[in-house]
Amino acid sequence: MSRTALSESVAGILLAGGSGTRMRPLTKDRNKHLLPVGMRPMIDYALGTLLNLGLNDILVVTGRRHMGQIVDVLGSGRDYGKDVEFTYRVQDEARGIADALALAEPFAAGRRLCVLLADNVYDTDALGAAVQAFATADPAYALNVLAEVDDPRAYGVARLEGERVVEILEKPAAPPSNLAVTGLYGYPQDAFEKITELVPSGRGELEVSDLNNAYAREGRLRHVTVSGWFDAGEPEPWMRTQRYVQEHPERFGEARFRLRED
Ligand code: G1P
Repeated sequence: MSRTALSESVAGILLAGGSGTRMRPLTKDRNKHLLPVGMRPMIDYALGTLLNLGLNDILVVTGRRHMGQIVDVLGSGRDYGKDVEFTYRVQDEARGIADALALAEPFAAGRRLCVLLADNVYDTDALGAAVQAFATADPAYALNVLAEVDDPRAYGVARLEGERVVEILEKPAAPPSNLAVTGLYGYPQDAFEKITELVPSGRGELEVSDLNNAYAREGRLRHVTVSGWFDAGEPEPWMRTQRYVQEHPERFGEARFRLRED
């Protein structure tokens, strides 16, 4: 495989772990990210997002129970384009997004990180420019992708001062804004060091919001706000995402799931 220009400097990381408790009983026998959205498994949409950004060297992290299913569906990467290659790592226990990300250190091998949660579906053209800017900025900063939602209480929520995100609150009862933190993140290499300093939250997980806050505290967290974001990880939003995909077939043609050719 020869890496694309973007993959030379940015490692693509797809997180497909977790125990899927909020989607039971559908997830009794399968990984949440393999549930259908339209005519495809959910994970294809997130993969397509990374491929459309121009990333062809992608690490997939999932739990030990589900690795077989995930490899079965995704294979080596060949089905998604000639030069697409997937690497896999097992997260032994579902200890959170930041814990899963820590497994990517050897794969990243000095590159910046573009991390995507496999239950996030995007229908926006705004990510390309944001990730290009992130990939080439000097010095490196962390990137969050925000989206305005009616009720952000189920998500990480951004608190802004002026144009700057100064804090992310994870699932706050009283949200400081309507801006949810979506599941695409950019991090510099020092994310791995910062993860070692995190402590488990109330739900026993290393929270991605705590990692984002480490950057916000240092004034190193930038953001972009997009529309066309769908979370397919809980029953109601999953059904909403299904409807959207079914009603907009023209937005989810074959090209959406292939590597962007430069
Ligand atoms: C996670 C993050 C949350 C973010 C969301 C996006 O939530 O913790 O900050 O807004 O993904 O999908 P979880 O799905 O783990 O509840």
